[in-house]
Amino acid sequence: MEQHHRGQWGSNLGFLLAAVGSAVGLGNIWGFPYKMGVSGGFAFLIIYLILAVLVGFPIMLCELAIGRRAGRSVLVSYQQVDKGMGTFLGFLAMLSPFLILSFYTVLGAYCIEYMSLNLADMAFGVAAMAGMSGGDTFGAMLTNQFGSIAFTFVFIFVCFLIIRGGIKDGIEKFNKIGMPALFIMLVIVIVRAVTLPGAGEGLAFMFAPNFEPFTNFKSFLSVLSLAGGQMFFSLSLAMGITVTYGSYLSKKESLVKNSLIIIISDTLVAIMAGMAVLPAAFALGGADSAKAGPKLLFITLQDVFNAMGPAGPMFGVIFYLLVLLAAITSAIALLEVLVTFLSDRVALKGRTPNRKKLVTIVCLVVFAEAALVAADGLGSNGLWIPFNSTGRPLGSTWLDFMDFISEGVAMPLGALLMSFWIGWLVGPKLVRDEVELENHRMSSGLYGFFNFCIKVIVPLAMAFILYGMVHDFVTIPPQ
Ligand code: PHE
Repeated sequence: MEQHHRGQWGSNLGFLLAAVGSAVGLGNIWGFPYKMGVSGGFAFLIIYLILAVLVGFPIMLCELAIGRRAGRSVLVSYQQVDKGMGTFLGFLAMLSPFLILSFYTVLGAYCIEYMSLNLADMAFGVAAMAGMSGGDTFGAMLTNQFGSIAFTFVFIFVCFLIIRGGIKDGIEKFNKIGMPALFIMLVIVIVRAVTLPGAGEGLAFMFAPNFEPFTNFKSFLSVLSLAGGQMFFSLSLAMGITVTYGSYLSKKESLVKNSLIIIISDTLVAIMAGMAVLPAAFALGGADSAKAGPKLLFITLQDVFNAMGPAGPMFGVIFYLLVLLAAITSAIALLEVLVTFLSDRVALKGRTPNRKKLVTIVCLVVFAEAALVAADGLGSNGLWIPFNSTGRPLGSTWLDFMDFISEGVAMPLGALLMSFWIGWLVGPKLVRDEVELENHRMSSGLYGFFNFCIKVIVPLAMAFILYGMVHDFVTIPPQ
């Protein structure tokens, strides 16, 4: 049955740009370099690549197949496979985007603020005039609650304007301009970063073989769970998004080819982001600054731009604009999961969904939870936080708390259950049947690989990752 209210991607290229746009986000440009920085560089990269092939690829194929098979929202798509487990997994897959949006939009707002800071610096030299370091500006931003909430509103409003237009005229159109622009800016920043004196050390840290973290099982597990969580977040898996975007995909397209393109592009951008960030951090701040953790993007790099001389602020503007674009293309994907869910619900009741109204509702609800995270300012403003009294809090900030529930628990648990469900209960044939529509053949070698991964490798890897996430979160003190 043709579903008129839904629409479809205008072209496969449009779908790919949107899917890559959803995958390429703060996870690539912020998470990947800093996690690589804290966990031994090369060792992290190798584990990440192995996991992307053995775990990321099979899950992405499942999600695209399940979404396209039903042509419905993530909840209904899962339910069409099997009602009981499908309902549970569908809701779990919607919980993550909802919680992630609470902090993703705030981080997007920080990018607008940093872009403005560098713009003002370019025009008036404000940072030098006030003698402010990266740390000073970051602290000033976090404790300015009104500013943070206002810019969070601006960020959500921009996303609202884009997704109001729908799949083809909103999301696809924005990605068609935004993604190539992002790529070009990234190349500009890389060229600048790798030509700084001393940048070679940063490149060696990323690419020279180093297996030190593998010599002890505990540190191996820690790198495994960090790289695994990162891979899931970065590829937008187990969050309903790939199912949702797949549901708008035409039956003519090859699911295998599309999965591979998305994974390769996302990984490439993550490595490129590493090449933009880590050599610059090494060159201007030494090896220790590469290990700055989450502060890398907003403190270390701002110091790098401050130290670059007169052209520094200009590179700052380009860099934060690039991160902002990446954040927008991902945030609109996260919002779309919820919008599609509501819109399909209305349609199932026999009414015609009013997209603009639904988008408005979703954006307002997200703004309410994001305002809380913005006001918290990464714990700078003394807000009350759940479970904070038990010694090691379940998150020392609201951002940590939301992140732990979504990225730490809901996502690995969802992927674990899904692989077990598709692999052992429903059977991987369901995926093959969808892949093979319209004369696309899945070779027996590829099917064998997929079958083995989804039945054995993915559940095992997910169980380790889930264990590692919870363990690290409960025992490692916050930074
Ligand atoms: N993949 C995005 C990132 O790396 C985050 C994201 C997750 C976006 C899920 C959409 C859906 O930042």
